[in-house]
Formats: sequence, structure tokens, C-alpha cells
Amino acid sequence: MKNFCESRHSLKRAAQIILLLADLFVSTLCFAETSEHISNIFKPESAPADSIFRLSILVLIITGVIFLIVAGLILYSITKFRKRRSEDNQEPPQVYGSNQVETAWTIIPIFIVIVLILATAQVIHSIQDAPQPPNAIEVTAIGHQFWWEFRYPRLGVVTANELHVPVSDAKRPTPTFLTLLSADTVHSFWVPQLAGKTDLVPNRMNRMWIEPYKTGIYFGQCAQLCGRQHAKMLLRVYVDSQEQFNNWIQEQKQPAAIVSAVAEGRKIFESTACLNCHAVAGTVATGRFGPDLTHLMSRDTIASGAAINNADQLKIWLRSPDHIKPGSLMPAMNVNEHDLTALTEYLMTLK
Ligand code: CUA
Repeated sequence: MKNFCESRHSLKRAAQIILLLADLFVSTLCFAETSEHISNIFKPESAPADSIFRLSILVLIITGVIFLIVAGLILYSITKFRKRRSEDNQEPPQVYGSNQVETAWTIIPIFIVIVLILATAQVIHSIQDAPQPPNAIEVTAIGHQFWWEFRYPRLGVVTANELHVPVSDAKRPTPTFLTLLSADTVHSFWVPQLAGKTDLVPNRMNRMWIEPYKTGIYFGQCAQLCGRQHAKMLLRVYVDSQEQFNNWIQEQKQPAAIVSAVAEGRKIFESTACLNCHAVAGTVATGRFGPDLTHLMSRDTIASGAAINNADQLKIWLRSPDHIKPGSLMPAMNVNEHDLTALTEYLMTLK
């Protein structure tokens, strides 16, 4: 009776664990579905994320079937051949080897592994060796602690943290090819609905590409522990219609707006440490350690997605960056409240 109760208890535990895992899996999917800031690897909206997704489903099905067969055989064995009271101290029949069974469980796994290798190699080849079409958009993405620099060398545009790319239509594909570099440590570019992860490694050039089918904002995250604020190194990819993208490029190419009403703030900006790190096109500020601020207000967020881009948050950021992002490399400006307001007002005109 004791043995029976024990095996019933462990079966119940196993069932609870399986239910818990299933619940975790389903709630992850549902959460990803409802929360706009969480990206879902099971909902690709771009090549090559879709081929990675299809491969993952194939692997999941094959390994799922293997799991069911193995777990089913184990469950069958531990219930059917459990120790019974009537058989106390009796040895079960001892079986030594079976050529047929051993041949089967050697050949079948080898066959399964070959199928997985071929399917994976085919997807890797189609992604890594994809030729770059002449009308592809070229972007150089540079990882910094803890923000993203995006340069469009052929279009003459520099921006930060929020990447804009055109949607690609089947008739006239316009993929975006990214060259990935790093200014300091290893980062990783990961927007799950658009593509797999690719690292940005110092002194090395990596390449990747995306070809989104659907307009919208796609969220991503630096996927390589790169320092204290790794978690707040968020990524936003704006997939624009062809027309929106062209307009955005035209706007970004303009030099910074000069508004005489905020001349005081501009003077403070140009006479403090700001210009050592930040560039504003058309002014003396040409720093490269921090994000280019020429069109700061065209972005929805600051501090690499850590805060909404508005006057209040900008002021908090200037006064005490640690308040939003402890350990960020932006120093507190230590200017008085009057100058802080003037500085914020100036930044607000960089549309
Ligand atoms: Cu950059 Cu983590």
C-alpha cells in the first residue's frame, strides 16, 4: 500500500510540473500577444525571422514527438512494471540485448539528426548568403554602452536608438542590410519579429539583414550582457511605408532648426560639456560619444527607450541621468535650475 501511495504521489507531482510548464508556455504566448512592448518570436513579420520561425516549429514538432514517445514509454514502464507486494524480493526477468531494438534506436536517431542538420543548414545558408540587391537600404549600427547609433551612409542620415526602415513589398523588395560594429564592448542586435540575434563585436564587422512585410513599430533589446544598463538598451524599429520613409529621410537630412527664442539654451549647450559627446548638425557640436541630437524631438524615447521623450523627462534626464538609468555614461550636467529650463527648451526645438 505504501509503495502504491508513493508512486501515486510522484505521478501527481509529475503531472503538476507538466501542467505548470504548459501554463508558463501558454501565458508567455498570451502575454506576448497582448503586451505591445514584448516581442513575440512566434509572430514573425519579416524575412529572415519567418524562416527561423518555420525551422523552430519543425524542430519543436520533431522533438515534441520524441518527448511524447520517451515520456510515454517511461510512464508505461514505471506503472506497469512497478514493484508489487505479491512479488516481494523476486527478481524480474533479466534481458540482455536485442539486435533489432538496438539497431532501430541507433538508426532512427541518426536519421532524425541528419534531417535537423539539413533543415538548419538550409536556413543558415539562405540567411547568411543572401545577396544584397542594389536598392537595399544600408545602415551601419554601432553599439555603445548603452545606446544604438544608426548611420545611413548612402543617405547621409545619423540617428540613435530608433531605426527607420521601409516596408518591403513583393514587387519591389527593399530589404535593409545592417553592418554591425561596436564602440566598446559586445552587444547584440535582436528584434525577434524581424530577425535572429547578431552580435556587435569590437574590431569586427558583422552583417545582417531584415525585410519586413508589415508597417509598424517592432521592439527589440540588446541581447548580450554589456554592462550595468544592458537591460535599458532597448531597440525600436519603425517600419514605414515607402512614402513615410522617404519623408523621414528628407527631414533627417536637414540641419538643426535655429530658433532665436531659445538662443540662451543653445549658448549653454555650446558652452558646456554637452558638445564633447553630442552632435547637432549645423552647429559647433560634433561629439560622437553620445547620440546625435540634430533631430532629437523626432524620436519617441530618450536614453535608448528608457524614458518617453518629452520636456519633463528631458529635464529629469539632464538633471540626473541616474534617476532614469543608473550607471549610464551621461554625466549629470550640474547646471542651475534656470539654465536647465533654457537647455530643455533648446532641445525641444530640435525637431
Ligand atoms: Cu548592449 Cu547589452
